[in-house]
Amino acid sequence: MALALLIAMPQGQWQGNGINPEASGSPMSTNHLAQRMETVQPNAIGELLKFGADPGLISFAGGYPDGSLFPLAQLNDVYQTAILQNGAQSLQYTVSDGDPKLRAQLAARSTAKGTTCTSDNILILQGSQQGLDLVAKMLVDPGDIIVTESPTFLGAIIAFHPCQPRYVGIPMDENGMKTEVLEQRLKEGLKPKLLYTIPDFQNPTGVTLSFERRKHLIALANQYDFMILEDTAYRELRYVGVEPATLKSLDTQDRVIMLGSLSKVLAPGLRLGWANGSVSMIQKLGLLKLAADTQCSTLNMAAASLYLERYNLDAHIETLRDAYQRKKNLMLETIRLHFPQEVSFTDPEGGLFTWLTFPNDFDSTRFMRDYALSKAKVAYVPGSSFFPNANELNHARFNFSGQTDANIVKGISALGALLKLEMAKLS
Ligand SMILES: Cc1ncc(COP(=O)(O)O)c(C=O)c1O
Repeated sequence: MALALLIAMPQGQWQGNGINPEASGSPMSTNHLAQRMETVQPNAIGELLKFGADPGLISFAGGYPDGSLFPLAQLNDVYQTAILQNGAQSLQYTVSDGDPKLRAQLAARSTAKGTTCTSDNILILQGSQQGLDLVAKMLVDPGDIIVTESPTFLGAIIAFHPCQPRYVGIPMDENGMKTEVLEQRLKEGLKPKLLYTIPDFQNPTGVTLSFERRKHLIALANQYDFMILEDTAYRELRYVGVEPATLKSLDTQDRVIMLGSLSKVLAPGLRLGWANGSVSMIQKLGLLKLAADTQCSTLNMAAASLYLERYNLDAHIETLRDAYQRKKNLMLETIRLHFPQEVSFTDPEGGLFTWLTFPNDFDSTRFMRDYALSKAKVAYVPGSSFFPNANELNHARFNFSGQTDANIVKGISALGALLKLEMAKLS
């Protein structure tokens, strides 16, 4: 499921395509559903898939990498080799922990980049999204507290929901989660089971957690005894500046489980990510993985492993960085030129998103429904979707990697003109 695409609108505003057995005439009644299904709400994925399919609409909503940059010739080569040379082996069942060679390659890559581990610390996943699901299943009982950044990645909230946690959102500034606020809450008696963070170019804000705060977070986890789930989906897409150490590399008590992904640096359709954790946690996660889907695609793992062996992923990532930095600059310049001055936005050092903040009385969901979609033919993700328990209406997430330069200029300038009209009415 393309969760990057997904926006959960406040109920009643959007008709998602969640299954309603009563409406479909099925004899099954909602009485038969497990209690956890109360947390599994319809969402607007159907709406967004329609947006994506509408050629007249410019969507800045999805977290799509630029498909024109996928290394198609190289992928064609490695798939051919996997099938023609390795034959049946590439199409057979395999171990649920994942292709041993790929695990070793990812461990070596991680170690070379400063997060030391061995292949025993790596579990191959169906995208890092599966890690969000499995780690929550492994650690979270109903009623347990998960601390997140506020706002946070919608796909994580959706993955955590069936475990019936309670959420505590910690506010952010330009240096990421305000760990001093977290510390205050902990001193007041907050007892989290798990803290979920996206320290690098956070989704949705694009903000990076400072090195000082990373150290503070680890110290708090040690002192107050909670686990950390570190989601590094965007870490390798840094355009400027120096990367701070991962939380995992600062972890001395095996409190951090780190998730990585090939989605943004190679191709999301491969559905390949990984978890990096202590051997005992990885073994437990492997049991859950076996129960969930047996294993990742043998063929995709073989192809990814061959790609890492034959080609230079880092050189490919350099190409992506250049292209996305240019698009990011283009989007922000166009916003500066065309949006009302009251709209502020983040200028991320990497990743795929900028986060816009409108004046307090501006409702970005209503604006998208009533104006952006119909009049400018532009979609974005209203910010309210990303708050675990607050309800801030005056933000929006814009993706800059998935659209052409021409569409970025066309969509942003059309939206700017409409915003000026609408905001003149508010003032
Ligand atoms: C922060 C974050 N984590 C995890 C994911 C899941 O990515 P994948 O399952 O493709 O690795 C996404 C996708 O957009 C994301 O933004």
